[in-house]
Amino acid sequence: MKPRKIKDGIYWVGAVDWDRRLFDDLIPLPDGTSYNAYLIQGSEKTALIDTVDPTTSHVLLERLSQLNVERIDYVIANHAEQDHSGTLPQVLERYPEAQVVSTPKCKGMLVDLLLAPEDRVLAVDDGARLSLGDKTLEFIHAPWVHWPETMLTYLREDKILFPCDFFGSHLATTDLYVTDEGRVYEAAKRYYAEIMMPFHKIIQKNLEKVQGYEISLIAPSHGPMYDRPEFILEAYHDWVFGDPKNIVVLPYISMHGSTLAMVDHLVDSLVENGVTVERFDLAATDIGKLAMALVDAATIVIGSPTVLTGAHPNVVYAAYLANALRPKVKFVSIIGSYGWGGKMVEQLAGLIPNLKVEILDPVVVKGHPRSEDFAALDKLATTIAEKHETLK
Ligand code: FEO
Repeated sequence: MKPRKIKDGIYWVGAVDWDRRLFDDLIPLPDGTSYNAYLIQGSEKTALIDTVDPTTSHVLLERLSQLNVERIDYVIANHAEQDHSGTLPQVLERYPEAQVVSTPKCKGMLVDLLLAPEDRVLAVDDGARLSLGDKTLEFIHAPWVHWPETMLTYLREDKILFPCDFFGSHLATTDLYVTDEGRVYEAAKRYYAEIMMPFHKIIQKNLEKVQGYEISLIAPSHGPMYDRPEFILEAYHDWVFGDPKNIVVLPYISMHGSTLAMVDHLVDSLVENGVTVERFDLAATDIGKLAMALVDAATIVIGSPTVLTGAHPNVVYAAYLANALRPKVKFVSIIGSYGWGGKMVEQLAGLIPNLKVEILDPVVVKGHPRSEDFAALDKLATTIAEKHETLK
């Protein structure tokens, strides 16, 4: 792909990574991703907004050559993470006159992470403006989307917001703009769940800040651009501010069928009580799907057998992950089975201190569940339904 023109003097010069399937050796990327960089040519100065992942440096440099860019005055580093800053050293080498522009905190991180030359990094205050001649960049500090040093860049004359990770989606596509809102909603929600949700309280403030700007186009650094900005702004508003919904997320493992029998029964009972359930067999699930489900859920019920006196390791991982992602859930319960004893409930409860939740009575049984155990699951389902009613 060649550079793609957005408007006169504004080009997409990023890289699409079709085959990447894992980010940070942690996050599944079922649809690949892109690292978007943007070139802004004003009447007097030229700026590059973000760079690209170092694995695709050659793509960015080639695009700049294709546009015959002989001089870059400013490289705007909205975020220090290497998928956006990783090609900074090569850009600075090719364009020796270029100055990097970042928040003060980002400046320190660029020096630490990339060994960027300190004297070439200009730290800017929140609200600072930079003239490129007939175009003006305004910098909006937006900490914790999703690192502490992040900022957004607003092109005032064209009303374009360049928010880097904020509002992004891991989606490799030839579409420059969103064409299929359903598909992008899914990818952006997954991205929000995995990357942004732990900071949703702080993101509330950043979202309010952004809504003070007139925006005609949102150009993130992952995924397609939003030429209908209200689509993603409204979605974020729901994810960040919305009340938890009448949904139970049920991640579980069952080794010999006892926990599975409990899960099956509880799902049926919850459905009979009007509660939506999203269940995940942790032996096979895409952990990103689980993260997405946590965005809206009011309750998590964790299902586990007992292994060597504790929960199954996959369940421990899911509990650890839920705790780290800090979803808006209000209630948690634990169900499962044991053969001869153990401390599974205490262990799992101890893994979720970040979740400000009410723990509902666990149902943990010896061996295969019996009629009284199924009755206890019915009671749990009724309790959950009643608790959810209080959220409306
Ligand atoms: Fe896309 Fe936080 O980097």
